[in-house]
Amino acid sequence: MIGTSVQEDLQEIRSELESSSFEDQNCLVTGGAGFLGSWLCDIFLLAGAKVCCIDNLSSGSLENINHLKRNKHFTIRRVDVTNHSEPREKFHYILHLASRVSPEDYQEHPIETLLTNSTGTKDMLELARKNDSVLLYTSSSEIYGNSEIIPTPETYYGYVNPIGSRSCYDEGKRFGEALCIAYYKTYGLDVRITRIFNSYGPRMRADGAYARAIPRFISQGLASQDITVYGNGSQTRSFCYVTDTITAIVKTLQTLSMKGEVVNIGNPEETSILTLAQQILSLTKSNSRITFHPRPQDDPQRRCPDMSRAKKKLKWEPRVTLEQGLQKTISWFRDYS
Ligand SMILES: NC(=O)c1ccc[n+]([C@@H]2O[C@H](COP(=O)([O-])OP(=O)(O)OC[C@H]3O[C@@H](n4cnc5c(N)ncnc54)[C@H](O)[C@@H]3O)[C@@H](O)[C@H]2O)c1
Repeated sequence: MIGTSVQEDLQEIRSELESSSFEDQNCLVTGGAGFLGSWLCDIFLLAGAKVCCIDNLSSGSLENINHLKRNKHFTIRRVDVTNHSEPREKFHYILHLASRVSPEDYQEHPIETLLTNSTGTKDMLELARKNDSVLLYTSSSEIYGNSEIIPTPETYYGYVNPIGSRSCYDEGKRFGEALCIAYYKTYGLDVRITRIFNSYGPRMRADGAYARAIPRFISQGLASQDITVYGNGSQTRSFCYVTDTITAIVKTLQTLSMKGEVVNIGNPEETSILTLAQQILSLTKSNSRITFHPRPQDDPQRRCPDMSRAKKKLKWEPRVTLEQGLQKTISWFRDYS
């Protein structure tokens, strides 16, 4: 789906990246039919690259990339990253995003989530080694677990329950990171790791187990349904609008000193979940009620990135405020959901 607002946002990213060119570069995007992956497919194609998307459509949707169907520089393979035949073309860049992401969804598929981030990551690293590609792995703020240091810097080791209900994702991502660094140290492979903190925007799913807080609250608000907050809503998150996230991911790929490095990508504006729900209620002009439900196990109390490294190395800071990003996202949900 590519409405006018997404097109404007893509142009915004292009100008932030000062129209960087990926002319004639081959890019592989795993998870390319998902939320962030589909934005990356768009941005690389606009920058002149040829893009191959690998996706098993477990949480992604063809609707996110339908508009690319006729683009001769775009191909999609509906396969699993843990079980696929090796592509014939050589890739200059591999962006490895494939993973289940929503807590409810990955808790229903813990083994698959662990394998996607372990054997799936190994397969992509092997492919990168054969192709001499640059590989970017999308890790997560979840590797920090219930962080004791806020804002959280990349040097924090994490406070994770290795056998808790979220461990398939948290430990899967931790293993994925460790494997990337092992390939860097053993083979000198050019790997880069982004730890993403709660990104949001158009093309996120709002249905069932796939829904994360922002799309869930927006769709509930627009449908005049109860807005369902877990716990008392005092837990915080820091939400980063998709244009900022995508700009930072591409900058990570382009910054020479990011080889073998990890960087937080997020917006340090920390908001409680209750405040978020109230803000969405007011922006959607909804008459929904906010209702409170049991808090899931190991749900982190606070999330806020220390952005010093991104600022210094990528020369990047998020630009879109939560209110601006929510307005854009709400208007997309009004038009397309
Ligand atoms: N969006 C965020 O806030 C956020 C935060 C932290 C980390 N990340 C990371 O960024 C990446 C993309 O997240 P997203 O928000 O776009 O999620 P998403 O669910 O929209 O996209 C993930 C995509 O991966 C695909 N996929 C899952 N398992 C696969 C497999 N085994 N083989 C092939 N395809 C598979 C899904 O079908 C989906 O299209 C993920 O790795 C996620 O862990 C995202």
